[in-house]
Amino acid sequence: MERIILDVDLAMGAPGSDIDDGFALALALADPDITVDLVTTVNGNTDVETVTVLTLELLHRLRRSDIPVHRGAQVPLIRPQARFGTIPDDVEVRDPQPTPAAVAMVDHVLAHPGEITLVAVGPLTNVALAMRLNPSFARALKRLVIMGGVFDRSTNKADRPGEFNVWNDPEAAHVVLTSGIAAWWVGLDVTVLVRLTRRRALEMQESASPFESFAGRYTVAWIDHRMKLGLETDASCAMHDPVAVASVTHPELLAWTDAYVQVETGDRMQGAMLADYNIDQADRAINAHVAREVNAASVSNFFQTRLKEM
Ligand code: BDR
Ligand code: CA
Repeated sequence: MERIILDVDLAMGAPGSDIDDGFALALALADPDITVDLVTTVNGNTDVETVTVLTLELLHRLRRSDIPVHRGAQVPLIRPQARFGTIPDDVEVRDPQPTPAAVAMVDHVLAHPGEITLVAVGPLTNVALAMRLNPSFARALKRLVIMGGVFDRSTNKADRPGEFNVWNDPEAAHVVLTSGIAAWWVGLDVTVLVRLTRRRALEMQESASPFESFAGRYTVAWIDHRMKLGLETDASCAMHDPVAVASVTHPELLAWTDAYVQVETGDRMQGAMLADYNIDQADRAINAHVAREVNAASVSNFFQTRLKEM
């Protein structure tokens, strides 16, 4: 059994906004080999207050309000990239736990050394703060799995030099990369290949399962929004964050390469990653395991099967 903390920067349930953090949470709850100990929230796709309220709402919808939710960082470590969102009128505002996310992460991981996997699917601000709060934190983790980065620059179709989560707080990514542990990085190179089609989302919308129909509705809206902006060439969207969650119990569905990775914190190439895969370990330790290939059909199949069983 994998015990995880899931750190998210959105949930699902705001019209026209991203849905994959919500799917990642649903998949973690649906995977019989995962126990979600805590959910933490961070500024990223929207402001942390909206993320927190939507996360609590999604857990309520999934009848898992027993899972503690801790609100995290309102802004990146040094950049003024706070987001501003709107809590939809029909969503009830519930209170998270009083302890801030980074403190909760440190307390929980140090109480269970070597047992907790932290899965971060938003900007790395909370993770970096936890590492700075207590230098023993990183080494007490079982594993750190991150949806973030784009490693093969020729496949970077993003409209910014770095992938969003790393671009949003590159200094936090730098803290993680220099923490002394090698995280498992699931970047855009693989996540853009795992897709949910509009056709499937429409089927989900008609499902008798309340979660499937809710998720289908917001996925159709998200795909339509992206197509209107010219961001998708076919009627589908990437399931970035669920790939990171799937990799916790099924790492064999991805091909990993050990690497030494640096992140660009200058303004011009903000968030770009530089990965060296030819390391002489006698000279320099690896600081990352980078996912370079994915069995997209198997990850999709795993994801769809689990969600149907919710
Ligand atoms: C990442 O950015 C967010 O929009 C997604 O939820 C994912 O975590 C992809 O770049
Ligand atoms: Ca995310």
